[in-house]
Amino acid sequence: MALQLRLDKYLADMGMGTRSEIKTWIRKGRVKINGEICNKPEKKVTIKSDEVYFDETKVIYMEYLYFMLHKPVGVVSATMDNVSKTVLDLIKDKQGKDLFPVGRLDKDTEGLLIITNDGDLAHQLLSPKKHVDKVYYAKVKGKITEDDKEAFSIGVDIGEDSRTLPAKLIIIKSDEISEIELTIQEGKFHQVKRMFEAIGKEVIYLKRLSMGGLGLDQGLAPGEYRELTQEEIRYLKEINK
Ligand code: URA
Repeated sequence: MALQLRLDKYLADMGMGTRSEIKTWIRKGRVKINGEICNKPEKKVTIKSDEVYFDETKVIYMEYLYFMLHKPVGVVSATMDNVSKTVLDLIKDKQGKDLFPVGRLDKDTEGLLIITNDGDLAHQLLSPKKHVDKVYYAKVKGKITEDDKEAFSIGVDIGEDSRTLPAKLIIIKSDEISEIELTIQEGKFHQVKRMFEAIGKEVIYLKRLSMGGLGLDQGLAPGEYRELTQEEIRYLKEINK
């Protein structure tokens, strides 16, 4: 069934103004539906088939929003929390949408987090069956060896029913504090930290660099975000199709 919305809600959702401002503008005749002035805020608009103009501007309804957030350390990947600031507190232009983070990063992990209200896309990216690559950069206490690389390539025991899926470990630096890049295809609770624990090492810094081939925008400082481009959205939707 075609989705219908009240005209004032349609315009408010698209960030045109507050609901009461919009009602006034509609009553003043500034809004047209399919070429005709409509001065009834309660008028139902059919999304996709009706054309809405505010003054000379065509207002296209975007049902879904997609943001790339550089999650900083210290905020939780939840929609609400009684104690800590959440990733959603960082998103200022929610446009009345029920946004949520696509998966979780620990409070002390930073990096790429996609925020959206598109449940289908979230499912595509998170379903364990889909094996979407997630790439992490980590600093780890102790030397990382070729044996560790081998262990990860087979999968390690993190106390679940079965071993983790094979993961690709790149050793950037092996020293008292080592630096690595790890690609995993699952998203189990604390997975990266538990994988290193399984080989007797401790992760002391963790950052997600990419998800499904979509890399964190280098221009975003921790706490900053931007909308995904149409191309990025299309790209993510095509993964696993
Ligand atoms: N693995 C972890 O251990 N923590 C994260 O935040 C993400 C992956």
